[in-house]
Amino acid sequence: MTIYARLIGTGSYLPERVMTNAELETSVDTTDAWIQARTGIQQRHIAGENEFTLDLAEAASRRAIEAAGINPNTIDLIVVATTTADRVFPSTACLLQSKLDIHGPPAFDVQAVCSGFVYALDVANRFIQTGGATRALVVGAETFSRIIDWTDRNTCVLFGDGAGAVILDAAESPGIYSTHLHADGDYANLLHVPKGVSTNLVAVQEGTAFVEMQGTEVFKMAVNKLGEIVDETLAANNMQYSDIDWLVPHQANIRIIKATAKKLGMPMDKVIQTVQYHGNTSAASIPLALDAGIREGYIKPGETVLMEAFGGGFTWGSALLKV
Ligand code: COA
Repeated sequence: MTIYARLIGTGSYLPERVMTNAELETSVDTTDAWIQARTGIQQRHIAGENEFTLDLAEAASRRAIEAAGINPNTIDLIVVATTTADRVFPSTACLLQSKLDIHGPPAFDVQAVCSGFVYALDVANRFIQTGGATRALVVGAETFSRIIDWTDRNTCVLFGDGAGAVILDAAESPGIYSTHLHADGDYANLLHVPKGVSTNLVAVQEGTAFVEMQGTEVFKMAVNKLGEIVDETLAANNMQYSDIDWLVPHQANIRIIKATAKKLGMPMDKVIQTVQYHGNTSAASIPLALDAGIREGYIKPGETVLMEAFGGGFTWGSALLKV
């Protein structure tokens, strides 16, 4: 019998503080009009001084657990996608496990930047399909604001903080049809934080290790690779563009999202769009958008959802599932 991983609950969390484009106009040489025209972003949420990635992950996880109506102790796998872990170690997943009072099952982080949630979902899906787990908590959580140079207008207008989580259960029917992952490290320097633990821990500790990006190059590759991966995903499942009910894309830039929707022939009212309100929350962006789509009543049980993401690495990936 084939085992599938089925979505039984979603949750998300956004920090209270909202930073508008108008606020950014006061600190860098930019305008609300430029940001909206080039990215679609109107505002983003920023974690409070004493709010950390773990806090965001915990709040989103508790909401997903509540939505699924399960006892947290029945979770037998925790995978957290994050680029902005609170500590070098232990992993955010282990810290989250303790917060949720879960003891024993495997818990680990996955790092694939903005593709992180799709990577984490792929891992959890494989655990469930092969009998290694029966109920997984998969989280995307980021405090990207902590690795942003707030004087660099090329990057600071783009990102925000947040977390999203899903519960996956072993089931006899889909569930996740397939996941597809790719990476090409030759492009590492186009979108990166050039310092890390072994190269400059002081910079990391002092909070001066910041995102650097060649925006136009990233944009072109993202459109190209996301176009390829939607074809790859549909071909693997013998599906047509018209079989997809909802596109839940990584929320980086409305123009990238529109390009993928156009390729799929999907009207924008079949695309969950949260980038306006959240900015790019990296690994949190897809589960945040998915949760919004479900809670606001757009995505309904039995519908087919295509998720796709592109991020630093470069990494890119997709997941096709029935909700
Ligand atoms: N406000 C005003 N001007 C800005 C600006 C800002 N916040 N940020 C950059 N600019 C300027 C640049 O300095 C540049 O000026 P110059 O031509 O005088 O050097 C100009 O805008 C670039 O404009 P344009 O070519 O129209 O930019 P673009 O269409 O490539 O848009 C991005 C810029 C960053 C929005 C776009 O490249 C992008 O979204 N890239 C992908 C980023 C991304 O998604 N990264 C994460 C992937 S997961």
